[in-house]
This record gives sequence, structure tokens and C-alpha cells, in this order.
Amino acid sequence: MKTLVLSLAFTMSTAAMGQAPQLSRDNIDAVLHAMTLEEKASLLVGGEYDFWTTTAMAGNSSRTVPGAAGSTIPLPRYGIPETVLTDGPAGVRINPLRPNDPKTYYATGFPVGSCLAATWNTELTSRVGKAIGNEVKAYNCDVILGPGANIHRNPLCGRNFEYYSEDPLLTGKIAAAYINGVQSEGAGVSLKHYAVNSQETNRLYVDERVSQRAAREIYLRGFEIAVRESQPWTVMSAYNRINGTFAQANDDLLTRILRDDWGFKGIVMTDWCGKRESAGLLTIDEVRAGNDLLEPGSKEQIADIVEGVRSGKLSMEAVDLCVRRLLEYIVRTPHFNGYQATNNPDLQAHALVAREAATEGMVLLKNNGVLPLGFKPGAQPRVALFGTGSYNFLSGGVGSGCVHTPYIVDLVQGLRGAGIEPTPDLAEIYQKYIAYAKLKFEADRPGERWFEAPLMGDQKMPEIEISQLCLERQVAQSDLAVVTISRQAGEGIDRKVEGEFNLTPLERKLIQDVSTVYHAEGKPVVVVINSGSVIETASWRVFPDAILMAWQPGEEGGNSVADLLTGKACPSGRLTMTWPLAATDHPSTRCFPQDMDLFTYESMSSGGQPVPNRDYTEHEEGIWVGYRHFDSRGREVAYPFGYGLSYTTFDFGKPVVKRSGDKIVVSVSVKNTGSMAGKEVAQLYVAAPKGSLEKPAKELKAFAKTRTLQPGETQTLQMTLATRDLASYDEAGSQWLADAGTYTFLVATDVATVKGRATLALPAYAEKTSNALARQQ
Ligand code: BGC
Repeated sequence: MKTLVLSLAFTMSTAAMGQAPQLSRDNIDAVLHAMTLEEKASLLVGGEYDFWTTTAMAGNSSRTVPGAAGSTIPLPRYGIPETVLTDGPAGVRINPLRPNDPKTYYATGFPVGSCLAATWNTELTSRVGKAIGNEVKAYNCDVILGPGANIHRNPLCGRNFEYYSEDPLLTGKIAAAYINGVQSEGAGVSLKHYAVNSQETNRLYVDERVSQRAAREIYLRGFEIAVRESQPWTVMSAYNRINGTFAQANDDLLTRILRDDWGFKGIVMTDWCGKRESAGLLTIDEVRAGNDLLEPGSKEQIADIVEGVRSGKLSMEAVDLCVRRLLEYIVRTPHFNGYQATNNPDLQAHALVAREAATEGMVLLKNNGVLPLGFKPGAQPRVALFGTGSYNFLSGGVGSGCVHTPYIVDLVQGLRGAGIEPTPDLAEIYQKYIAYAKLKFEADRPGERWFEAPLMGDQKMPEIEISQLCLERQVAQSDLAVVTISRQAGEGIDRKVEGEFNLTPLERKLIQDVSTVYHAEGKPVVVVINSGSVIETASWRVFPDAILMAWQPGEEGGNSVADLLTGKACPSGRLTMTWPLAATDHPSTRCFPQDMDLFTYESMSSGGQPVPNRDYTEHEEGIWVGYRHFDSRGREVAYPFGYGLSYTTFDFGKPVVKRSGDKIVVSVSVKNTGSMAGKEVAQLYVAAPKGSLEKPAKELKAFAKTRTLQPGETQTLQMTLATRDLASYDEAGSQWLADAGTYTFLVATDVATVKGRATLALPAYAEKTSNALARQQ
């Protein structure tokens, strides 16, 4: 059977070719009707049949574009080309080198998702997306597998760096901006991982148990906004189950909500794993639920579809629906439209966009006045760079989200470019140690953690002890110290509290010792955090003079750090997630996997009693995720959601709120009252009147960023929302509901710092929905 399927798909006789209709935008029906069942089945299954049996597992298709993650198969008889899917999301992820080919195929490394979102700048995010879309096409691909719109439910999730925020509105707006940018180039995206993929541990099987309200309001809302505002070409269905049903077999999720409620018009593709028969997930369930494309694809899945239709278990209508949508996707692609890949994108131009985005995304957490650094004219300032991350600066995370960049600007290069020379002896110690540590890592690699394989991203190298004598030598020859604290994380594994969220004892000692020695000489210490997500700061932040959250900022990171430290740029990044005092302060930490050092691709469903947080995870906290918990319940945090310092100051005018039809517009003027040019972010939170549903004290409903304002300059910002955006999900009535009453519109610079308010009386709003995603147990 399987042999028959494939031979039909690939070796149609040339005699037949002449008679078959050739695919065009106008004859999708004709092509659909001409196709055999075997051809249809093969089109619905990705073309990387060797994915599980070769090193391709890490996302290395080797047919058309080496290193791309997936493809759709060609059917030359109908003029249907192969289309190519590449990871993402921080840039195009393909192999940089090809055998017997002197050319290189490096792609621009843009800031990771958490950094991009921290720009709070949708226009800049769209430009990043546009540059990525351009590289997708230039490198002979059609779709980038991103953006990731999952919610930072807990700071320990290993893939938070790829996602945007704990807040769904911000997630949706940034995702839509990215998608609109990519798609403006005529390339596609895959909005992923739909949905409730809140943890990496046992991601292929875990049952994410969540209330209907939290699902609709928190975990789906970002996807909803992105779908409504940018119509992604494709959406990727997540691996996990939701309330007992695999997302990939979930008709509620993939059809009723995504298509019927939100009006999604593209294709759904599965995340990179097929059926899981032992857990009851069959290929035909996936097709029936509305997955139009099964990635990465296997011959068995083609046979399953053919057999499903023949046996009557899968209807021909369900197959045709998916095929029609797939053909509609194909006619949009660069490959179908005859785009000639140049393999030569403008990496220099795109590096400038990456640098701009990284600079705007970095968040200044602390500054006791030492920044921006000021040196006398003619001074030849010197910096002592401590921490392995200063020299082995991590541009992105590991796993499918890593990008093979042409270079990475570390802090040595970045600061040197800004005229600040690193102390050579310390640089030599670290650089030699890192070279050794990398070799040791290679030698000791256990070989089973695929995301630690070469081409899967840079690893963090452990810290070394710096002696008192060495510190004294450094302080004598430098004007300041920078201590970099790096973190690496990625696909397949969640972070631990000790040593990952928290500092290691060695890191803590380093910050403390450097601070003591430098402060004794009246010299400043800056900590640079090089991590895709949150770390603990409360216990050590008193030591350094300044702290800059640099994230994993892409290939230009060191330049962006230098731009900010020297004041060439004014910090305007703002946190998109709460920084708690301790990881346990998040209510979700009680029901988040911890210290389960489990390899994702091990079968977890090996009988026995289900293990909490591994086989199933209760989202006990419901909608009380991130600031919705901390702010509403008055809990102390290290840094609140939306927080970030600047080198200048801004005054806000009194906000004015107006209603016109179903739109609400809030205007506010922002004036730069300081002495340096800079940008400010206005964050609009809404506090609802007491009503039938318990609501967070306030929720982000819109935001806007100023252009660069010169000292004394004013800009009036307008923030628009719909009355529907004020609604919460009422499970009892299966509806979106906003009570009548007086709403308070708060303009703030972070969730805890309100600058002005205005009120508006509104009538009730109600919108019935299906009862989709109701909990079974
Ligand atoms: C990841 C996706 C990725 C895909 C292809 C999966 O394991 O979850 O995010 O796009 O692999 O590499």
C-alpha cells in the first residue's frame, strides 16, 4: 500500500501530465477534482520522510534547502511546486554551509521574541518581520515557522525566549506586527504553537488543564488578535493536549474557534510530530480536526489517510477541504509565483534593523546615575569584562529557534567599537578558558540531548572563580567593570530554579566581589543580563550600580549594549513580564514542572499513575497569570510588568477618552522634560466596574510608543480599542461579557505607575460563543 501511494504521487507518467489541469489561482477546484485520493493524501503530508531516521530530526531537511525544517511535496503533473518551511522565529534557520559549496548561507540573527516584544514598538517589529520575510524568499523558502505566541505562564518555561509576554494583548499586537511585516514581502509565517503550550516538559503528551475562561482570555487571546489583525498564512497546532484532547485533534480549537469564530483563512500544520497512536492520536483524527498539513511527514501518514477514506473512517469531504486550503496556500507562495531565490540577502542592511530592534528592546533595570557613561574628551577608557557571557555572548536560544548568524558582536567588540577598550589580561583569561570549556563540552556531550547538538545554538559556559589578586589588578587598570550573567534555554526542556532562575553561588560571589573592589576605588559596576527570560535579581541588585537586561539580542547585541551604556541611544525597552522576587511567587510555580530533567522524546506515557506537571498540568491559577496576580493582590515584585528606566524624563498630559461607535480612543500628550532625546511607552490599562465576574484590578488594553522626542518636544499619542476588548469570558453563559458601568482608563509607564486617568460610562456588551474547550473532568 505505502509503495503504491508514493509511486502514484511522484511518478505520474509524462503522458498524463499533458491532460492534467495546471494549478492557478482560478482553477483550484479543477485541480482538486482531477487529483486522485493518493495524490491528495500525499499533498497533505510534509515531504521530510526521513525526518525521524536521520540527523534530520533536529530540523534538517536536506532536499531543497539544507537545514530547513519542512516542506510540502511537489506534484509536477499539476504544476504544483514544492514549498519550503524554515524555522524561525528570530531569523531564517538553515544550514550555513553546504558540502562542496564555497558559498555561505548565514542568516541575520534578530533579537529573540522576548527582546522584540520589549520594544513595545509595532512599527519596528514589522520592519524586523519584513527583513525576515525578505531572507525567507532570498534563501529559497516560503514560510518561516514563527512567531511564537504562547504565554509566559511561568518564568521557568524553556521557550519563553521565543514568546513575547505574560500578557495576551501585547503578545497579539507584536505577533500581528511581525506577521504583517513578513507577509508584506510575499512570504508566509506559521503562528505557533496553538495553543496552551505552556511548558516543554513532556510537551508531546502533557495534558494542559485549563479553565475555559483562562483559555479564552489568556492563552488564546494573543492568537486571536494576531489572526484577526494579520491573517497568517499558516498556524501550527501544538503538541500538547488541552483538557484531555490533543490540540492536533481538537476540532473546537482548530475549526470552531480558529476558523468559525476568528475567520482564519490559511492552513493549519501540525508541530513536528505525527500521530501518537499509543496515546490514541491517529492521523485521521488530525486531518478530521482541521490540520491541513502533517509535518514533517511520513509515508505511513499518507497510507493512513488513504486507508481512512477507503474504510469510511475519514470522509472525502474532510480531505478535500484540507486539500483545497493547501492549494490556496500554494498559489500564494514564492515558489509557485516563480520567485527566483538569490541566496544573497542584504545582510548588512538587515543587521542595522537587528541592531535597532535590540537597542530598543533592552531594558534598563537599575541606574544609580552611573549611566550613561561619561568620559572626559581624549580619555581612553578601559573596561574590565567579567563573566563568560561577556566573551561568549549568547545571541539567541537553543533548539529550532536558534539562527546561524554570520557573526555575533560580543561585549569586547561592542565596547571597543564605542571606544572603550577591554583590559587585555582579563580578556585573555576568559577567552582561553572559553575555548577550553567549549572543547570540554563537546567531549563530554552525552549525545542524547538533541538540542545540545552542533547547529542547535550556543551553550553557556560555566563561570570561573576570579581571585582577589586578579580583581585588584583589574581595578587598577580600568575605569569600570561589567559583569555579564548569561542564561541559555531552549526547546525540549524547562528551566530550573537553582542555577537557572537563581544565580549560582559563583555568579553571586562574582557580582559581590567585583562590586566591593570597584566601589572601594569609586569605580562603577554594571551588570548585563544576557538571557532570553527572567532571572532572580532581588537578592543581589543592591551591589552593582546599574543593571541592563540585554536579553538574547541577536547578532548585533554587543553593539546595542555599547550604544546604551554610552548614551548613544536612550533606553526605551520595557518589561513584558513581571520579575518576581522569587520564582515561587508566581502562583503557577506550584503546578509547573520543576527539576524534571526529562528528555522530551522519551515516552512519558509508559503506564502507571499519571504524574502531575508531567502527564497533566493543572493551570490552577486560572487567569491570575503574571501582573494579573501580582498587581491585583498587591504582591511585591522585583520589577513590575511594563517597567524600564530611561536617561530622560517624560511628563504625561491628562488623558482624554472618547467613544465613537464601538471604538474607544484614549489620547494623551507626552513631553520630554529631560535633557536627552528619547522615546517613551504609554501603557493603557483599564479597570472595570464591579460586576458579575471577578476581574483583575487592571488589564493592558492598548499601548503606544512615541517617536524619538527631543528635549522639550511633545507628542500626542492615540490608543484605540474596541468595546469588545473590555469583555471577560463568562463560562456560565458561554459568552464574552462586559458589564455596564464606569470604566477607568489608566495611562501608565508600568502596571504599578499610573500617570493619569479618565473615566467613561459604558453600556453592557455581550457576545455569545460556542461552548468550545469546556473541561471534561
Ligand atoms: C518545534 C517547532 C519548530 C519545529 C520544526 C518543533 O519541535 O516545536 O517550534 O518549528 O520543531 O523545527
